[in-house]
Amino acid sequence: MARPATAAAPKAPPSKHLMALAVVAILGIVLVADFLWASSSSSSPSSPGGAAIWSSRLDLPARPAAPVPSSAKKKTKEKVSIGSMDINATFADLPAPELEWEEMAEAPVPRLDGAAMQIKNLLYVFAGYGTINHVHSHVDIYNFSDNTWGGRFDMPKEMAHSHLGMVTDGRYIYVVTGQYGPQCRGPTARNFVLDTATKEWHDLPPLPVPRYAPATQLWRSRLHVMGGSKEDRHEPGLEHWSLAVKDGKALESEWRSEIPIPRGGPHRACVVANDKLLVIGGQEGDFMAKPGSPIFKCVRRSEVVYSNVYVLDDGMKWKELPPMPKPDSHIEFAWVNVNNSLIIAGGTTEKHPITKKMVLVGEVFRFNLNTLVHTVPCSFI
Ligand SMILES: *[C@@H]1O[C@H](CO)[C@@H](O)[C@H](O)[C@H]1NC(C)=O
Ligand SMILES: *[C@@H]1O[C@H](CO)[C@@H](O)[C@H](O)[C@H]1NC(C)=O
Ligand SMILES: *[C@@H]1O[C@H](CO)[C@@H](O)[C@H](O)[C@H]1NC(C)=O
Repeated sequence: MARPATAAAPKAPPSKHLMALAVVAILGIVLVADFLWASSSSSSPSSPGGAAIWSSRLDLPARPAAPVPSSAKKKTKEKVSIGSMDINATFADLPAPELEWEEMAEAPVPRLDGAAMQIKNLLYVFAGYGTINHVHSHVDIYNFSDNTWGGRFDMPKEMAHSHLGMVTDGRYIYVVTGQYGPQCRGPTARNFVLDTATKEWHDLPPLPVPRYAPATQLWRSRLHVMGGSKEDRHEPGLEHWSLAVKDGKALESEWRSEIPIPRGGPHRACVVANDKLLVIGGQEGDFMAKPGSPIFKCVRRSEVVYSNVYVLDDGMKWKELPPMPKPDSHIEFAWVNVNNSLIIAGGTTEKHPITKKMVLVGEVFRFNLNTLVHTVPCSFI
């Protein structure tokens, strides 16, 4: 939930905190549900080259229903072992309190690699894969006040369908680049802005080159875009650009080059807090299109998930903060700032060293921005 920096206001009452956590949770559930979809839709286990499509590489060990609440007010056990006992700490669940989850209204469609922004009591959920061969090009809205979904409307035809960069100022939602089409098709450089008050879309100047899932934030009146994967979907991009924006309009016609980030790649949390720009977790490498495949069939390539936390405070030099307790990727829409602590829910970590399958993160992490300490907390406020 790339909420603007003002979301860090320490005066928010606890009910707001719980609502914010619910947003994180709902996104975690969407992510996990989508992995279940991908897992169950696995039909062709591997290509002749030995590289498997991602659906066959997803792992939900010892979690038949995953951490999705099976029914309202049922407790979900968080301490589930990941397969073999001799696996080191990166792959095991960390000691964590049991959290009580409550099931909320089911989303209208399943989604993988879509995007979501919260504005007040509404969660706008964009795009995403429905299946590996079908992508959505609409927006659904979840209303926290009455636990309902509705207000579906279309995205512009030219807008990417997954791996979008996204951020909001509280009214306008800026949508940056991403993958256009299903399977492992190429990215677009096109950018858009949505006025949520009128549901009107407008163009923004395109990025100098397209990116997959770049880190995106509003910082000091500029839209910042950095990292992500390059056009081949796999090679990490280090570039960082910014564009002056105000009330949904670009104030410049071209993006400005900024200081590159030390480590590139997609699927990172990108946060502005205390007038600093933070980039957290993510990965290098991703699935790529199989060479010559007419449908751009996804084939797994090497991936490294990481736990690094980088911060830019003066705009000139990236510094490193204490890393997350474990490598964590796919968290760009799975965080919220509560009283100057970042709460990060779920994600994906390094693949299982023996089965080589993707491993999901079961923990909810807290990164206290006052103390710079990461914990797996039992309380968020
Ligand atoms: C766990 O295994 C990973 C991958 O093999 C390795 O990078 C990491 O250092 C190991 N961690 C510990 C605590 O041994
Ligand atoms: C959200 O739900 C509340 C409570 O039912 C309602 O008053 C409000 O109009 C709804 N908002 C939208 C945008 O539908
Ligand atoms: C917010 O954090 C401060 C400093 O850690 C703490 O003193 C305060 O009690 C917290 N407020 C809430 C509402 O949790």
